[in-house]
Order: sequence, then structure tokens, then C-alpha cells
Amino acid sequence: MRPLIYAANWKLHHGPSAAREFAARFLELTRPVPDRDLWFFPPAVSLASLADAFRRRSDIRVGAQNVHWELKGAFTGELSLAHAAEVGATLTLVGHSERRHLFGETDEQSARKVAAALAAGVTPLLCVGETLAEREAGRTEEAVRRQLEPVSALVADAGDRARVLVAYEPVWAIGTGRNATPKDAADVHRYIRRHLTERGWPGRVRVLYGGSVNAGNALALLAEPDLDGVLVGGASLAAEGWAEIVGVGG
Ligand code: PGA
Repeated sequence: MRPLIYAANWKLHHGPSAAREFAARFLELTRPVPDRDLWFFPPAVSLASLADAFRRRSDIRVGAQNVHWELKGAFTGELSLAHAAEVGATLTLVGHSERRHLFGETDEQSARKVAAALAAGVTPLLCVGETLAEREAGRTEEAVRRQLEPVSALVADAGDRARVLVAYEPVWAIGTGRNATPKDAADVHRYIRRHLTERGWPGRVRVLYGGSVNAGNALALLAEPDLDGVLVGGASLAAEGWAEIVGVGG
């Protein structure tokens, strides 16, 4: 089996005690499986308790949902990569569509966050994806390219580039129950890799798919060899349901 990443984006759910309860149940339900990595992106205040709860599981990593590009300073309300790393975060989401569309994060800001994460030794999972209007106008590739270009401009080092992962999350599929077909997703994943290769990125960039992934469609999506994993919101919130999706029960 090829290596797969199952990433849970909890958004604004599960404070520290709920995160601990989830972890206790999830640890009962699952065991490590070779070539299968489990990533959790809890709210920032739950990072420490979740990282602590999972510390004995080398297949599990914990990360921030959003970070600032500066490590310290007068940035009220922001999360420092240094502080997140101190409590156990080894990953961060960057440019999730909710950051871009609800909070006005620009493509350039996302790129700065990717660069800052790399400099801090934290693995960035850069989220890209088109809106429904862009898809219907046949501008999916253009939208994804627009989000990727500033990252190529800012992150030039081949070693750094090799540490970036991308999540393709069509905005119209997030939390809507409407997901891309495996073929639609795979087409965009191939485009993302082709584009990055043209920009001189080394190797094969790992690309996860996200947007209304659930127990009913995860297997079909992951049957596409162009998908390196899934990034899941709603269906990752219950320990039983998420354990079923990652398929490591027993
Ligand atoms: P969803 O969210 O699985 O609830 O659609 C995915 C995401 O926003 O990462």
C-alpha cells in the first residue's frame, strides 16, 4: 500500500477536555498501521492536551489550523509557530478556505505563512481550491495556480519545497455534503503537481483531497493513486466515525 495521510481538521470544535476524551477513545479504537499517518488539527487551545494524549503514538502528529508568519511581537490574537511547536505541533494548515474567505487571508499572506512554517521546522499543509463560480467558469486551474504562485516566489530552496504538502479543497465541497468525484479530484491533483514541476519543484508533491469526505466516499477517493490522503472536517469529529474512516480499527 502507498503511504496515506488521514488529516482531521476540527475547526472550532473540541476544547482541551473534549480533545482529551476524543484521544482516549481513539487510542482504544486504533493501532498504528505502516504507511498510514494520522494528522490532527485541533483548535489552538487544545494543541497541548492532544499532543500529550497522543505522545506514545509515532503514527500520529498534531498541528495548528492557522499561524502568523512572525514568531513574536505586537500581533494580538495571533498564534506563534514557536509557541505551537513548544506544545507539540509539528504541522500547520495554511490558507484554509475559511481563512481565505471568512477572514480575508490573501494568497501572499498564505505564502508567507508557508515560508515561516518551514523556517520554524513545522510542516505546512497548504490548502488551495476554487469557488463554485470559478469552477463553473472553467477557471479551476487558474484559481489553484493563483494560490500556488506566491509560494513558488517565496519558497525557492529545493529542500524547503520538498517539505510542503498541498490539500486540494474545492470551496464548494467544504461542509456542503457535495464532494468532487474521485476523477475530478485526481485531475486537479495532477494539475497541481504539473504546475509545481514546471516551476521547478523537486519530486512528487504530496496532495491530499478535502471537502465532504466521509465514511461513504473515502475509499473511492483514496482508490485514486493521485490522492495521497484526505483532509476531513465534519466526519473527523467523532472518535468512532474517524476511526472507521482511517480504517485502523482492531
Ligand atoms: P468537511 O471540511 O470535511 O467538513 O467538508 C473539510 C475541511 O474544511 O478541511
